[in-house]
Amino acid sequence: MPERWTPDSWRKKPILQVPDYPDLAALADVEKRLSTFPPLVFAGEARALKKSLARVAAGEAFLLQGGDCAESFAEHHPDNIRDFFRVLLQMAVVLTFAAASPVVKVGRIAGQFAKPRSSPTETVDGVELPSYRGDIVNDLAFTEETRRPDPRRQLSAYRQSAATLNLLRAFAQGGYANLASVHQWMLGFVKDSPQSRRYMELADRISEALDFMRACGLDPESHPELRTTDFYTSHEALLLGYEQAMTRVDSTSGDWYCTSGHMLWIGDRTRQPENAHIEFARGIKNPLGLKCGPSLKPDELLRLIDILNPENEPGRLTLIGRFGAEKVGDHLPAFIRAVQREGKIVVWSCDPMHGNTITSASGYKTRPFDKIMQELKGFFAVHQAEGSYAGGVHLEMTGSNVTECTGGARAISEEALNDRYHTFCDPRLNAEQSIEVAFLLAELIKQERAAKTKPLPAAAGL
Ligand code: PEP
Ligand code: CO
Repeated sequence: MPERWTPDSWRKKPILQVPDYPDLAALADVEKRLSTFPPLVFAGEARALKKSLARVAAGEAFLLQGGDCAESFAEHHPDNIRDFFRVLLQMAVVLTFAAASPVVKVGRIAGQFAKPRSSPTETVDGVELPSYRGDIVNDLAFTEETRRPDPRRQLSAYRQSAATLNLLRAFAQGGYANLASVHQWMLGFVKDSPQSRRYMELADRISEALDFMRACGLDPESHPELRTTDFYTSHEALLLGYEQAMTRVDSTSGDWYCTSGHMLWIGDRTRQPENAHIEFARGIKNPLGLKCGPSLKPDELLRLIDILNPENEPGRLTLIGRFGAEKVGDHLPAFIRAVQREGKIVVWSCDPMHGNTITSASGYKTRPFDKIMQELKGFFAVHQAEGSYAGGVHLEMTGSNVTECTGGARAISEEALNDRYHTFCDPRLNAEQSIEVAFLLAELIKQERAAKTKPLPAAAGL
């Protein structure tokens, strides 16, 4: 029998990656205030996402999850939200149209503030200070005062999440996502690139199809599915005091939901089965993600699946592999076999970012674009070989014209990283690179489908 779960039962478990708050009374006060604030999402929406993810698990849709590594207070600007949203829409359109696959759109946004770190402190010129843990905890600037964890930042993160989500809901439902605007989603700086030409060709074909449908009497004005879209939010459930404060009983089902975002995931550094983060996640009914890195063993994965999804509910659990281009072929097959052997239902997603991070000669943390592409190809190849469904991707990306990952069609060099390196944490794909990834994914999904529908050799001659 599992122990009884309560929103605070994680507090009795061992925990990693906790900020060292100097004033615990102030922290408790903030958490108390947060617990009286309105939820950011409604439990019914989290259930709708779970249903969509169940379709992904069944091989009937594709999960596109992406956004900043870390949202920041400084870059909270409507243009950044809009540019991110339209690149995600463009990617979704490429996948829906070129690969004929329904796409479940989930942003790493409106709550993606807390960051796990490889070391609790950072030393610069002989000065040792606490590491930056994301804007919800402390500030990136390297001074004693700014690096001190400040609980009031949680209130700012909550308010920023609410404002971001408000704009995203407006875009998704208020007309911005109308398929008739498919040409206008192209960002100015992406024009004149091979990606933009490919995208514009595809947009022309979509417009033609819409004209045809309109002539048949089906138009976006009378069909909301053509002029609105479903968009969901997600973030890493790392700062558990904040997440607990946002956890509420849903009055319609009587179940506990964490209302800080639709989907929450557990990071690769905090997924120990006996620890606090898994304890917290098991009791909330939101769809969950679990990051799976090279140090995870198949039997430990099965244990985690039993804890997080004991009823084997489709759509509840998304396994987000982040092995690295060279390791995906060695690690993923054993996971798939273990999951298939035990009859577990999961969504298989690929994070091709976190296993492919390197430091450039100039000292920038970066990711080579071809390694990202290589891990994605490896992910699809393994699933094809194992007879499972490559169901989604998890990307660190932005709509801004940054230079953080090297390579891509515009061939960003290591020297060019310095031009527009803006990330608060890990390097992100820029808009052009994101669209390039979407075209590759569309090809891979089409190949996957073609391989599945090929007649078996014995049947071919009948
Ligand atoms: C992240 O997604 O930003 C992250 C820290 O990933 P992981 O837990 O996989 O290292
Ligand atoms: Co990251």
